[in-house]
Amino acid sequence: MTSAKQLHLGAFMRPVSLHTGAWRYPGAAPDANFSFKHIKSYAQKLEAAKFDAFFMADHLAVLNMPVEALRRSHTVTSFEPFTLLSALAAVTERIGLVATASTTFDHAYHIARRFASLDHLSEGRSGWNIVTTSNPDAALNFGLDDHMEHGERYRRAREFYDVVTGLWDSFADDAFIRDVDSGIFFDPDKMRVLDHQGEFLKVRGPLNIARPPQGWPVVVQAGSSEPGRQLAAETAEVVFAAPRDLTAAKALYADIKGRMQKAGRPRDHLKMLPAAFVVIGDTLEDARAKRAKLDSLVHYESAIASLSIALGHDASGFDPDAPLPAIPDTNASKSGREQVIQLAASENMTVRQLAQRYGGYAGLAFVGTAETVADSMQQWLDEEGSDGFNVVFPFLPAGLDDVTQRLVPELQGRGIFRSEYSGKTLRDHLGLPRPENRHLPSAVK
Ligand SMILES: Cc1cc2nc3c(=O)[nH]c(=O)nc-3n(C[C@H](O)[C@H](O)[C@H](O)COP(=O)(O)O)c2cc1C
Repeated sequence: MTSAKQLHLGAFMRPVSLHTGAWRYPGAAPDANFSFKHIKSYAQKLEAAKFDAFFMADHLAVLNMPVEALRRSHTVTSFEPFTLLSALAAVTERIGLVATASTTFDHAYHIARRFASLDHLSEGRSGWNIVTTSNPDAALNFGLDDHMEHGERYRRAREFYDVVTGLWDSFADDAFIRDVDSGIFFDPDKMRVLDHQGEFLKVRGPLNIARPPQGWPVVVQAGSSEPGRQLAAETAEVVFAAPRDLTAAKALYADIKGRMQKAGRPRDHLKMLPAAFVVIGDTLEDARAKRAKLDSLVHYESAIASLSIALGHDASGFDPDAPLPAIPDTNASKSGREQVIQLAASENMTVRQLAQRYGGYAGLAFVGTAETVADSMQQWLDEEGSDGFNVVFPFLPAGLDDVTQRLVPELQGRGIFRSEYSGKTLRDHLGLPRPENRHLPSAVK
């Protein structure tokens, strides 16, 4: 099988894994959350395997689960992403560095500065995962009693994007003339004051940072509710949203690319890279046994708490051996809750079975040999289910090594994944154009 299309691969990183049982897996590095030595080695292995990007998830509160469950989870704490990615920028050369930052709790000027700085520091490898923050407890850490309402969060995110990209365009690419003879450092005609005043934000500008090497850091988005999809279609260049199977993925792909066209954007200016949990074994049975072993390391206490988060509703009082009862609408993630309800119905699961799935990793999973997983990935690529994947490693380092040493060579052998980087920036890796400055065109391209 050959395919002209090329797969893009990101690494969806939590240093110990996203799977709650991973820190107990034989050979795991349970202290990796704050071990730069481990994280650096993971980033360098991913770069050697020619991954497009290293992506850091982020949350602005410890997970909103009861402490009886939280005490069992390594996901309770993690590095602040800019600090970590800045350090990684110094020990890597090509791999993209994507940080998550919230439009609900941060200032646009801060976000614009941090990403512009990371882009300069990494010579054009930064990306911004725009999140509106689904964990309501984050509000309590920022002087608020309640989380902002879902629709309002997305309206604010849309305005926030305009402000941040406007700030990145504060200077023309060739504004800094540094003319020693005349003593003029920059040309004021090539600087623009944003003067933004909108529903949520008031920002004068200009940004006190030169235009980023990529023009704008790559914009990433992961929400998949109605406003989430619309935000993605209007703004995102990468979408991480995680449909459960190929049918749902094709529908999401067509929907978002269709919305893009309506918004006047070319379809190939956005790459769909759903999160995919990848477990590689010597045989299918071996891979399934690895996953079963991993899932068995999740305690029921954590499992039921994870299900509550996914539902946005406390599930601890539900009868574990009965089907999922009807759940009222809440202010939490809508697409998350709908996925749980659909999964429960489609597989006829009890609350206990559902909780075990959510306690580990409930999203899209490819579990098999390097060949069967490559077959699935190639099918998704060929049938427009996605343009690649944001790989979730089941446990580290062994699960990451299985991907870089077994799956990647298989994909390269099929001619659908690069054996060398052809460019230097994250935009180059993803095949995305460098945005023109919307207000200050430059002679320098
Ligand atoms: C692959 C993936 C990664 C995500 N990473 C983060 C994250 O790091 N931080 C965060 O607050 N939310 C994260 N989210 C949550 C999304 O930003 C969003 O809140 C969620 O998918 C619900 O979106 P919706 O409200 O549009 O349904 C992630 C979601 C997905 C699918």
